Amino acid sequence: MQPNKTRILVASLVLGGAQLALAADPPAQERDRTYAKVCGFCHDAGVGPAILGRELPVAYIENVVRHGFRAMPSFRSSEIDNAALASVARWVSQSPATSAAPASPAAPATKAQ
Ligand code: HEC
Repeated sequence: MQPNKTRILVASLVLGGAQLALAADPPAQERDRTYAKVCGFCHDAGVGPAILGRELPVAYIENVVRHGFRAMPSFRSSEIDNAALASVARWVSQSPATSAAPASPAAPATKAQ
């Protein structure tokens, strides 16, 4: 009896913690869909540098996405249309820093123009 109760308590604590973490994400910070589907694949996985919370200029972000930048592949308008690109660039530019990996000190926030 006792071990079962403990297990249930632990499980509900874990689940409760997960719900808390989700609830802590206010709707204003809801991910841009393009970011979630495309960019986050690399940029939230440590493949690309963190780009959120760095106030990177919108035009710079659009340019990197359209033309690529060193290891970053380019995306054509058939892959990300202009409206989606404008939206994701604005969102990335204005996004607050996240709990995701912080920008690495090796890649300082230089706003290459
Ligand atoms: C296939 C993986 C991949 C995807 C998908 C990807 N990126 Fe990147 N991105 C990279 C890598 C890797 C770099 C670093 C390039 C380098 O410095 O060599 C990068 C760099 C960047 C930079 C420059 C960051 C800086 O420090 O100046 C921006 C801006 C950027 N990406 C935006 C985006 C956006 C917006 C999307 C979604 C539309 C996206 N990336 C999708 C891999 C990716």
